[in-house]
Amino acid sequence: MEQKLEQREAEMNINLFSPIALAGHTLNNRMVMAPLTRNRAAGSVANTMMAKYYAQRSSAGLIITEGTQISEQGVGYPATPGIYNQHQIDGWKRVTDAVHAQGGTIFAQLWHCGRISHPSFHNGELPVAPSAIKPAGEAVTYEGMQPFIEPRALSNEEIPGIIEQYRHAAACAKKAGFDGVEIHAANGYLVDQFIRDGSNIRTDQYGGSLENRTRLLLQIVTAAGDEIGFHKVGVRISPINAFNDISDSAPQSTFNHVASSLSGLGLAYLHVVEASMSGETSVDFDMQQLRDRFDGLYIANGGYDHNRGNQSIAENRADMIAFGVPFLANPDLPERFRTGAALNTPDQATFYGGDEHGYTDYPTLESE
Ligand code: PHB
Repeated sequence: MEQKLEQREAEMNINLFSPIALAGHTLNNRMVMAPLTRNRAAGSVANTMMAKYYAQRSSAGLIITEGTQISEQGVGYPATPGIYNQHQIDGWKRVTDAVHAQGGTIFAQLWHCGRISHPSFHNGELPVAPSAIKPAGEAVTYEGMQPFIEPRALSNEEIPGIIEQYRHAAACAKKAGFDGVEIHAANGYLVDQFIRDGSNIRTDQYGGSLENRTRLLLQIVTAAGDEIGFHKVGVRISPINAFNDISDSAPQSTFNHVASSLSGLGLAYLHVVEASMSGETSVDFDMQQLRDRFDGLYIANGGYDHNRGNQSIAENRADMIAFGVPFLANPDLPERFRTGAALNTPDQATFYGGDEHGYTDYPTLESE
């Protein structure tokens, strides 16, 4: 009884600054830099400006890179990086070396956009998806915003090739010096398109039942885990996010099944976007049910600040907290939280594309 109380008291004292073990590393803190698309990788190759940007943020316990394509077919935005050829490996090696030199830990987020793309990225070929269902909205292309078009449904015979591309990308990430990979199964991109029944009406073993809709994710996770070790593979999901016209008829049971299926594999973590893209939460969805079903570390993301982050960790509702925009605008976010310093104001106009401005020139407390 006394021991239990002591344990509980010790847990109560855990906060964002408590070290934690992940993927064979002891992280200095529980603050994760969330994946952030910045569209500054001309030619799909990570560059020295990006190395500087990530190195500036290496006081995060863990950095997760921006979405990084596993193949040319996976591209859906201008100037996003890839990780499937030697050129891209060399580019990312500069990033991982720079982050490691500062004592940081960095995972690559592996991304296939699926139907959230446009033929202009694919020499006029159609983007691919689980089913030929056109999302509402417009694609961001090199020629400006263009309406989404109806994608081509992947054939059953093509799916092993997609899984192989994830395996290859994980191998490339290892060669590039990454400490692990995150499978992007969130925000309406290819894997999420398979999971949710609004975008997946397949009648083969990849559609219909929950087991079938989760199959692609599990096969990808298994391929990446076999390649680099399951303890170096994390997964990101976004159960209530309707971004990219994604929908599901029963999100709680769908994502409870996803969380259960990912449990017991020895994965690095489950990373959950708990809000919509604009930051709204939902009373109809209970995130705790995901945490209860997954046996590994739980990273929470979506509108957290210093206090809410500490509270969630102290109450054992999350193990780590991912911050997106706060890390974008504050390279030294952990130090600012630690000292209670004011935060920089994010500049929306420079989020996507451009140069150093709004990227590597946000001040630190030290530079101010
Ligand atoms: C975006 O570019 O808007 C974007 C990319 C990846 C995400 C979410 C948003 O997961």
